[in-house]
Amino acid sequence: MRNIILIGFMGTGKTTVAQLISKELQLSLVDMDAVIEERAGKPIHAIFADEGETYFRKLERTLTQEISGKDNQIVSTGGGIVLDSNNIIDYQKTGDVVCLLASKETILDRLKDDQTRPLLKGDKQQKIVQLLETRKLLYEAIPYKINTDNLSPQEISTQIIQQYKSNNP
Ligand code: S3P
Repeated sequence: MRNIILIGFMGTGKTTVAQLISKELQLSLVDMDAVIEERAGKPIHAIFADEGETYFRKLERTLTQEISGKDNQIVSTGGGIVLDSNNIIDYQKTGDVVCLLASKETILDRLKDDQTRPLLKGDKQQKIVQLLETRKLLYEAIPYKINTDNLSPQEISTQIIQQYKSNNP
């Protein structure tokens, strides 16, 4: 079975939806941030603080090459995976890539209590607006997109599974 890869900004629901899809299809779940944290032996914010963002992006790139070399996986990516177009190209070779979208209001609401995202430290609203602006075109370039503003994780998961089954009969 081809992989399903969830892409999208922070707070669009990638992790929750990937868990639901993995359970429903009985395919293994790969959460990129969790794998990176486990291998580094520290949380993402500590990797950013100690080694910097460029180093983190290299870890993401290497892990993408590793994951996209296998099949039968539901993959939850980090929001910045789109920053290197090679990641998307690799994932598209062995899987169906889905981009989850949400408005800035929804994202802010979902992340209002979150303290773990290093890129949102400080004025969270301003950071979200700025990052969304710089990445907008990268997310929009993914052919299959779902606006999650008014959908539950279960509804999103059902839509993705239906589409996956029709793409891969
Ligand atoms: C990031 C998103 C985070 C995590 C890191 C950087 C980003 O993942 O990879 O903090 O650049 O958008 P989530 O999208 O799971 O929050």
